[in-house]
Amino acid sequence: MRAVFKDEEVLKNCKIAQMLQNQPPHLSFHTPGHKTAGWDITELDYSDNLASPTGCIAEAEKDIADILGACKSFILTDGSTAGVLSMLYAAKNMGAKRVLTSESAHKSVFNGCAALELELLLYPAKISKKIPLPHTMYELKCGYPSLLEVADALLFTSPDYYGNVADLAEIRKYCEQTKKMLLIDGAHGGHLHLDKEIYAGAYADMWVDGVHKSLPALTQGAVVSARTEKFAEALQKGVNIFRTTSPSYPIMASVEYAVKYPRNFELEKRAKDFAKSPRVYANEDWTKLCALFGENAFAVEKILQSEGIYAEFCDGNALCFYLSPATELADFERLKNRLERLFEQFPFTTDGKKESTEESRVEIVDGATEWLSLDEAVGMVSAEFCGLFPPCTPLISRGEIITGEKISLLKRATHTFGLKNEKIAVWKGAKKE
Ligand SMILES: Cc1ncc(COP(=O)(O)O)c(C=O)c1O
Repeated sequence: MRAVFKDEEVLKNCKIAQMLQNQPPHLSFHTPGHKTAGWDITELDYSDNLASPTGCIAEAEKDIADILGACKSFILTDGSTAGVLSMLYAAKNMGAKRVLTSESAHKSVFNGCAALELELLLYPAKISKKIPLPHTMYELKCGYPSLLEVADALLFTSPDYYGNVADLAEIRKYCEQTKKMLLIDGAHGGHLHLDKEIYAGAYADMWVDGVHKSLPALTQGAVVSARTEKFAEALQKGVNIFRTTSPSYPIMASVEYAVKYPRNFELEKRAKDFAKSPRVYANEDWTKLCALFGENAFAVEKILQSEGIYAEFCDGNALCFYLSPATELADFERLKNRLERLFEQFPFTTDGKKESTEESRVEIVDGATEWLSLDEAVGMVSAEFCGLFPPCTPLISRGEIITGEKISLLKRATHTFGLKNEKIAVWKGAKKE
């Protein structure tokens, strides 16, 4: 635990960690079964209860809400996934029937809408130089007016995997004018409450902060928040359904610690300076350092791994390194120096193929599906969303004609989702003419 909770000053101010540090020594005849007590305990008379908090957890959630500018915040130990599902439940509880989002949203959005029987209104991702970009509000209004019109709730990912931030101020304005709910999946933006201009919580009705991705929290630590009492009430019902009944105390403590962790101005400055390199993707989120290697990206990833340097993900074009305020300056400098040498060794090369999204899809047909090997599936119509893991956004969407280029990416990826035994689900007989 010490390795995570390193900053004594922050720790002093953390209600859950203080409770855990000061707990009386006791014999454990309670869960969990390892029986060592320590920080990994359960709901005891002094440890409060996440499901109906009245003690240190209630205080921690109140502090978190104050820091995030929320009416109410809920600690999650089940990842941002539980937050997305809870928001969708709350939206439905408040009358939403149709949710508009991008095809590059996280799979939890698709799964949540399917499970809750919310109609998904999808618009295709806007790809530029192989990187999905958020649409501006203006582009959405011009490109998808009929989808916008019938949507009850709009759900945006901001920031995204590549550090792109949505057009939040304009989106908020539109949602206020049209009385639509605004949900933001900030799984990658837990640190942005330190920079309110691009923070989800400054705009959304409900939003998720995936604090474990960009702040020093344990994996699965997240927060979901509501702007007003009305949304908070509905969200409470959602978290009651989707949160585990056995929340981890170390994760809860780490969420509070992470939200209270201070900004690292020196690291931010160095990361922003490095991002001025033409070989680093110019984004709005300093924690996502995306180094552009084009076709050499997988080769460079292997070299770095052999030297003990691991990126968050490689998409076959960019190698994305994730920083946080807890990243050591020396580690950042080591990465930067190594990348600068690799930039010289591996010039940016692309296959020069035309990018396309819309022209390669067909109407989704209901019918029989079959699993084909990746090679056999080229030219067929995908029956599932699948892609690289991470980032866990669809590389191939349901209804999309499968191209050889995308199959080659899937084959080279270390981890994927949506495939089964190296096979891909397609609509039987549906084929590109
Ligand atoms: C945009 C986005 N939303 C939601 C999630 C789900 O987060 P978690 O893995 O913390 O459940 C992820 C995870 O990668 C994500 O990238």
